[in-house]
Amino acid sequence: MISIIGSGKVGSAVGFLCGSFSLDDAVMINRNEKKAIGEALDITNAIPVSSSISITGTSDYSKIKDSKVVVITASSRVHLQSRSEIMFDQAKMVQKIAANITKYAPDSKILMITNPVDVLTYVIQKEATFLPKSVIGVASSLDSSRFRYLLAQELGVNQSEIKDAIVLGEHDDTMVPIFSRAKYNGRHVTDLLDDAQISKITLDVRNYWKYLRDYKGHSAFGIAKSTFDIIKAIVKDETLNVPASVLLDGQYGLSDVCVGIPLTINKNGVAKINQIEITQNEKESLSKSSDTVKSNITKVLKFLKN
Ligand SMILES: NC(=O)c1ccc[n+]([C@@H]2O[C@H](COP(=O)([O-])OP(=O)(O)OC[C@H]3O[C@@H](n4cnc5c(N)ncnc54)[C@H](OP(=O)(O)O)[C@@H]3O)[C@@H](O)[C@H]2O)c1
Repeated sequence: MISIIGSGKVGSAVGFLCGSFSLDDAVMINRNEKKAIGEALDITNAIPVSSSISITGTSDYSKIKDSKVVVITASSRVHLQSRSEIMFDQAKMVQKIAANITKYAPDSKILMITNPVDVLTYVIQKEATFLPKSVIGVASSLDSSRFRYLLAQELGVNQSEIKDAIVLGEHDDTMVPIFSRAKYNGRHVTDLLDDAQISKITLDVRNYWKYLRDYKGHSAFGIAKSTFDIIKAIVKDETLNVPASVLLDGQYGLSDVCVGIPLTINKNGVAKINQIEITQNEKESLSKSSDTVKSNITKVLKFLKN
């Protein structure tokens, strides 16, 4: 079973993909129960005729019992603020959600979507005794998809022709698009772009969410698809290589922090943290990005203690 905490724009989009692709039974949990029930009733109509899965909505956390995957999308109406401004309220909320997951689904794999995602991926592990490989913050695969699109736009090609576009680090202003690995038509994009174009794409990928906010107020479909891919890998025991946020223990020279790093995911959650070649400059940017997340983690942990 898949549990989705938060039945807002992201939670319902994740639920819709799980239902319409008949992945597994799902329960939608929301603070305001009516919303969860309504979304579940709506998504139910998208379940294929041959499928026997069910989607239900509730505010009762006991219904997440024995979930294989718990997806956290709950959030306190924060779209217009920056991700770090809202971290204290979100951390308090996640603390309570962690207690419920510990009580009802302690063996589940947990996918953190709520922002600031890297800080909260860390917080939920400290608040409960989840194994590091069971907790994954989903965002870098979305950022990578945005990076691929922006590279394609700048080069005037189709995004399907861009390979190995990956973004690592924080899902915020310090994220690190890895230009050194991205290729178009077998050629490194660094041979095709000048410094000004690289700076522009870096800024645009970091600010992509702001463009979406200005056009439609929020983002939902990209992250829902990134999340669905990871849920599917866990539920169907497929092997998926994606960047996502996990607790690091020395990889890339980073420890005791969660940031986006290349992972292999399967039914066990994180099967492997993959070490890929990146340039010295990219390593330094990743280290700075990790320092920013660490500093926010320290502030949040202090706040939660008081
Ligand atoms: N990781 C990424 O790349 C990425 C991408 C996009 C968005 N996000 C993040 O995803 C989160 C959700 O975004 P959204 O657009 O779906 O927000 P939204 O539409 O405001 O939905 C949030 C939902 O969470 C519910 N909620 C609040 N507190 C809860 C609690 N304690 N337990 C259960 N449900 C609770 C709210 O219920 P009520 O109806 O009662 O208020 C609301 O339905 C945000 O933090 C956003 O920044 C992350």
